[in-house]
Amino acid sequence: MNNEIERLEKAIQSFSIETPEQAEEFRLTFLSRKGEIPALFEEFKKLPSEDKRTFGKPVNALKQLAEKTYKAGLEDAASSKSESVDYTRAVNDLPIGSRHPLSIIRDEITDIFARIGFDVSYGPEIEDDWHNFSALNFPEEHPARDMQDTFFVQKDPDFALRTHTSSVQVRVMENEQPPIRTISPGRVYRNEAISARSHCFFHQIEGLYIDKGVSFADLKQTILYFAEQFFGKSKIRMRPSYFPFTEPSAEVDVYWGLNNEVDYRLTKGTGWLEIMGCGMVDPAVLQASNIDPEVYSGFAFGMGVERIALNRYQIPDIRMLSENDMRFLKQF
Ligand code: PHE
Repeated sequence: MNNEIERLEKAIQSFSIETPEQAEEFRLTFLSRKGEIPALFEEFKKLPSEDKRTFGKPVNALKQLAEKTYKAGLEDAASSKSESVDYTRAVNDLPIGSRHPLSIIRDEITDIFARIGFDVSYGPEIEDDWHNFSALNFPEEHPARDMQDTFFVQKDPDFALRTHTSSVQVRVMENEQPPIRTISPGRVYRNEAISARSHCFFHQIEGLYIDKGVSFADLKQTILYFAEQFFGKSKIRMRPSYFPFTEPSAEVDVYWGLNNEVDYRLTKGTGWLEIMGCGMVDPAVLQASNIDPEVYSGFAFGMGVERIALNRYQIPDIRMLSENDMRFLKQF
């Protein structure tokens, strides 16, 4: 009995409790129903009564030592928890995000134009009538304003969510002197029915070049350069079109080819894919921004980023680009 008490006393004193797990191990070893202390009490019960008198005190003292050690150990473990930092542990495995397909395309396009001297300009998404319409030659009450169904802000008809980033080009023309070469990427809003191919907001990239002697040939060559760089295609065509702020105006198609089934679907069997609108800046637009149309001329173009993304990545529904489903976004 004596030996047993001594052994347990040593074991209890040398047990180090620094963590909650070690405290629990201590409890299981010594104090739990199947632990060493209850086992010792079982032995004690079997002793003849004169031995009980001898060992009663030390056995009880041992039990108290075990309980005290356990209690103190628990407290130590709890208080040292916040201080003990394990510097060898691996860093938190925070998931790394991926780039949004719209950002990937926007950056590629602005990079391509940066190489030929275009800077990047931004403007407000809530825009006044002047910058979104009037300065761009949309006459008051003219049906041209219906081309782009507008979200007005509250009941003030002077403010609306911009329907295109041409508004940014007006702001640049008002603030800078030619030569101007700028790309205006940004989100735009139109009050349109939402479907797999159209949404009430989307992103545009518009471009503007103003200098002395800028011609339609410059426009065509610039778009051809873009088509080669971005799509890897070397043939474009221009179809006459209409915008209030450009004259003449055109829609640009790139020759995509008909090499496989996707090409057929994408180009509706024609081999041509429409990529943007463009034109020579109307002299009235230059005048509105205090640029002398007798001295300067320029061209502008604009394209939708979502449409390019849907085609490039074969995305079946435009809404996937704004729903932010991680399973979708992680693929880019
Ligand atoms: N702003 C036009 C649109 O939103 C696109 C465009 C820009 C057309 C510049 C011609 C020139 O549809």
